[in-house]
Amino acid sequence: MAKLPKKDLKRIIEILNSGEELPVDYKHILFPPEKKEYELVYAKKEREEDIIANAMAVPLQPIKTFGKNGNDWTNKLVFGDNLQVMKSLLDDPDVKGQVKLVYIDPPFATKQEFRGSQDQKAYQDKIAGARFIEYLRKRLLLFRELLSKGGSLFVHLDLKRSHYMKVMMDEIFGERIENEIIWHYPDNFQGNVNRFPNNHNVIYFYSMSDATRIKRVEIPLNKKTKRDVRIWDKESQSLVAARDEDGKIIYKEFTHKFADDVWVIGQSSVTKKKSSEFIDYPTQKPEELLRRVIECSTEKGDLVLDFFLGSGTTASVCLKLNRKCIGIEQLEGGMNTALPRLCDVVKGKDNKGISKVVKWQGGGEFIYCELKKYNEAFMDKIQAAKTSNNLVKVWKDIAKNSFLNWYVNPEMPEEAINDIIEIGKTENGLEKQKKLLAELLNKNQLYVNLSEIDDKDFNVSEEDKKLNKSFYGEAYNG
Ligand SMILES: C[S@@+](CC[C@H](N)C(=O)[O-])C[C@H]1O[C@@H](n2cnc3c(N)ncnc32)[C@H](O)[C@@H]1O
Repeated sequence: MAKLPKKDLKRIIEILNSGEELPVDYKHILFPPEKKEYELVYAKKEREEDIIANAMAVPLQPIKTFGKNGNDWTNKLVFGDNLQVMKSLLDDPDVKGQVKLVYIDPPFATKQEFRGSQDQKAYQDKIAGARFIEYLRKRLLLFRELLSKGGSLFVHLDLKRSHYMKVMMDEIFGERIENEIIWHYPDNFQGNVNRFPNNHNVIYFYSMSDATRIKRVEIPLNKKTKRDVRIWDKESQSLVAARDEDGKIIYKEFTHKFADDVWVIGQSSVTKKKSSEFIDYPTQKPEELLRRVIECSTEKGDLVLDFFLGSGTTASVCLKLNRKCIGIEQLEGGMNTALPRLCDVVKGKDNKGISKVVKWQGGGEFIYCELKKYNEAFMDKIQAAKTSNNLVKVWKDIAKNSFLNWYVNPEMPEEAINDIIEIGKTENGLEKQKKLLAELLNKNQLYVNLSEIDDKDFNVSEEDKKLNKSFYGEAYNG
């Protein structure tokens, strides 16, 4: 067991004395998971407990609500990194352990992966591959905590990394793979490639426990087909042909069949410019595919997560099928596609994808949120400063709170302060100081920690705190 700092030991004792449930991070430290019989070994593979402990919970900044559903749940569309949002969700009693379905369609390949597979470059490929696996593993570990006991996980991958991910997922979830679904899109014609055209992706379906239930998917047949009726025979424990009293096989006309693990669903609806569903997002998936995933694994009102939302296909299908959903996307390009798409869905202006089949008329509600940024709050203060002295004070504040990256010493050496003061004395000094401080303020994505939401420095409005309270529940101390 890892040696615990005193403050953690004290906190654990307090929690145990109060009878509260121990947070996951502590559980993992006190009771480390047993080593598996076999496991995937690669460079920089972090300990599970460190991953969960080190991810930072970040409050949300609500931007705008679209539509209205009149009930106590609002679907969420979050712009930001899914790891931080997921960590926060672990503290939300409406989400933790309540999620019925997680569907993810992560990015498959980095630039390096497209390079050749021999010589030095191939080695670099491998490093990139391991980083990709670790990047997904971190997220899958958090999904494990969010999913309900009867929940399902569908992970969409291509041929390049799927085999590693399967081993990885067995490690995280136990050997609970139920299906390796082949999504076959025969309408994707490829040119003169020196191999067989690659016309499928895989979707791994993992159940969280024996409580997970899947509904059979009916596929309409082109024409009625006469087949023998099959029934379950307890004695032989197998499906057998049903027979009448005279022992004759019973035949019936069928208009549909049940789907197996090869799903033939065209892709051209989302790849061809003139197609019905095309919205110009390179990795867009057909709504029909998501409909199948969502309908087989959830009921109306169940909560679905897609934290690699892209153009918003999963959220669109959830709205149309009356499922609750949370979608996260970190790229502006993705969010700029998903947001207008979902607005149209809510307004009933979307006639794409499954709209016709489900007779979609519009409805539902979602709130668009972003992660709260540190630097925005401090940038405002820098801009508002009227004197050099004010600016020095702001800078000290920033450094004291360790909001800056490594090159600013939180102890703020005297010379650095003097330098800033000297700059202030030159021509246009105040402006120069502001420019310098603005540059120092790390422009990377730095977020407000959830536990600091009440800090006046961050200027979090009462309305925003209210949203965070409903989103994060107990973890919020406002
Ligand atoms: C393959 S696309 C998903 C496409 C989606 N299924 C659709 O139908 O449009 C993967 C998406 O995940 C997003 N993404 C990657 N890493 C992320 C992260 N850490 N947090 C949030 N989104 C992320 C990418 O920006 C990209 O849009």
